[in-house]
Amino acid sequence: MVIAVDGPAASGKGTIARALARHFGLPHMDTGLLYRAVALNLWRWGGDPASEFEALRATHELNLDPSDQELRSEPVSKIASAVSAYPSVRAALLERQQDFAGQPGGAVLDGRDIGTVIAPDAEVKLFVTASAEVRAVRRQKELDGRGMHVRFEDVLADIHARDERDSSRDAAPLREAADALHLDTSELDVDEAISAAIRLVEEKLAKA
Ligand code: DC
Repeated sequence: MVIAVDGPAASGKGTIARALARHFGLPHMDTGLLYRAVALNLWRWGGDPASEFEALRATHELNLDPSDQELRSEPVSKIASAVSAYPSVRAALLERQQDFAGQPGGAVLDGRDIGTVIAPDAEVKLFVTASAEVRAVRRQKELDGRGMHVRFEDVLADIHARDERDSSRDAAPLREAADALHLDTSELDVDEAISAAIRLVEEKLAKA
């Protein structure tokens, strides 16, 4: 069974995907980490994010340690959004994601294009959203927790800018798959969002 979880930044899709993986005993891949790892390489080398060629070179030797805070830093997030718009970068990361999705026992993957491009035949597709304001509150809290104090207006502007970039790019834009189940987490806390997601998946499997 493959579960595809897509949605915008700070929608809660990562938390939900991890919880689903635990609940159903499946391996999980945070595909955003791949784009962040490319961005981190580029940033460390002083490469130019405006150059698709340099971004493509940065797809080799990825550091995918999820506990590496640098992967989550603001400059790396910005560069990740930029490099993820390049078709050649997306193509270079495709096989790795499809191999993961193709494991015999199944998998949970979260990102922006899992249900549309990476695993269009996934048994279950969830599209997780929340209002930009709610996502900005969550992001600000997360940054606060890491000792980074940023003004709310700046966080919100950043969320809007990233939504715009991720949705308007030509290559695999953030788009809800026609057969995705929609989960709006604006009014839900973490436990409620996880329970709602598990319920949606179980209902879908019961129908299949
Ligand atoms: O989910 P995230 O914020 O960690 O993703 C980082 C960047 O990578 C984000 O700008 C969108 C991009 N991304 C993508 O284009 N496709 C994916 N499957 C996952 C992430």
